[in-house]
Amino acid sequence: MYDLIVEDATIVSGRERRVADIAVEDGKIVYVGDRPAGGARVRESARGRLVIPGVIDGHVHFRSPGHPHKEDWASGSRAAASGGVTTVLDMPNTSPPTLTRAAFDAKRELAAASSRVDFGIWVGASAGHNPDINELMESGDACGIKVFMGASTGPLLVDDATLLRLFEETRGLIGVHAEDEAMLVALRDQHAADVAPDHNVLRPPAVAVAAVRRLVELVEAFKRPVHVCHVSTAAEADLLERTHGALPITTEACPHHLFLASDVTPDYARPDGLGGTTATGNRIKVNPPIRSERDRRALWAAIRRERIDTIGSDHAPHTLEEKALPYWQAPAGIPGVETTLPLLLTAVRQGRLTLERLVQLCCERPAAVFGLASKGHLRVGFDADLVVLAERALEPLEPSALLTRVGWSPFEGMRMVPKPDQVYVGGRLVAQRGQIVGDDVRGRFVRGPGVG
Ligand code: DOR
Ligand code: ZN
Ligand code: ZN
Repeated sequence: MYDLIVEDATIVSGRERRVADIAVEDGKIVYVGDRPAGGARVRESARGRLVIPGVIDGHVHFRSPGHPHKEDWASGSRAAASGGVTTVLDMPNTSPPTLTRAAFDAKRELAAASSRVDFGIWVGASAGHNPDINELMESGDACGIKVFMGASTGPLLVDDATLLRLFEETRGLIGVHAEDEAMLVALRDQHAADVAPDHNVLRPPAVAVAAVRRLVELVEAFKRPVHVCHVSTAAEADLLERTHGALPITTEACPHHLFLASDVTPDYARPDGLGGTTATGNRIKVNPPIRSERDRRALWAAIRRERIDTIGSDHAPHTLEEKALPYWQAPAGIPGVETTLPLLLTAVRQGRLTLERLVQLCCERPAAVFGLASKGHLRVGFDADLVVLAERALEPLEPSALLTRVGWSPFEGMRMVPKPDQVYVGGRLVAQRGQIVGDDVRGRFVRGPGVG
């Protein structure tokens, strides 16, 4: 007796599609093929529908511990599940920051108690001595070391000497927020008197490029795997083009950099639905900033050329009250964990991306980059994280469809593919057409490969 059989599914991988039944036992896929023998406690017909692996979002800020009024593990993970994200990797700029074994274990406990999706945890680094990083990486508990080269939200920032020491003294994946702090400080001082400067003037592309250039030097010297978070500019893509294949550098792009531009008028009504928007000031204040249309197009080109490895939402919720503060006080960050898949499926519908490429970017490559051996594929032995998709008409995104605690999205009003029909985490139905149905399901902790 299987726990679940999903019948007649059109299973999409990064390379092909096939129609088959998927049988699940104890949270794992145990059979993929024609008509498994034996019964099932739950049968679901996916006839005429597509099934992809659950999305792995390697970049979320679920704010807990510390700022549950913005998000916590229950609200963030419900939002994730409703949007087809079945695994999240949480960033360390919580309060307290995830810098020590004790802070790591405390966050792990919070997440285990309330996350509806599987979760991994990044360890942070701060200036100076970071005693617990090696143990957290060697055990495989931390999915990577997150480094802020430029200050963003929260106190985590490493200077160049600390960064160098991290390359020398630790092992495993380093994920980087690449903006050059010295340049940021100089620009901030220069514009300190401006009431509402352009965010791109304070954090221009050159700031990101300078940091990526430094990273490339370090990777050349240490041959260390580095994941460059939120590549946002044509210039970064050009620079990384030169190292492609030669160095262990992987790259992430974020939906807000792929679907919004700083210099395009709001125009959700365009026939391709992807007009981009300059909408609403501080709402789209994010680090690195929303860039020009030229940069946005360069990111899509990089995706098509397979120069982007993963899509991460950089889900960084702040309340509308916080966003209504004057420019200098308004926090940077955009919520997005639940709109990644709808936006990308819309791009598929409009011919910008194939569904196979989407599966590579959202499932297969993240599993490989973060060493999640049981995820990213719908194959025997893998976790039964499934997303069932039907062909549905585009709909304008309504705030009422959002499950993030902050309740808003920069994509409100944009016509997009609705949330997925069904989302299974470990073989259990968690979300159906955007609603949470398995609120008793708890996700499991996922670890990285370890660096023993
Ligand atoms: O805009 C951002 N918001 N960039 C970051 O690096 C952090 C994030 C947050 O946590 O709010
Ligand atoms: Zn960042
Ligand atoms: Zn982030």
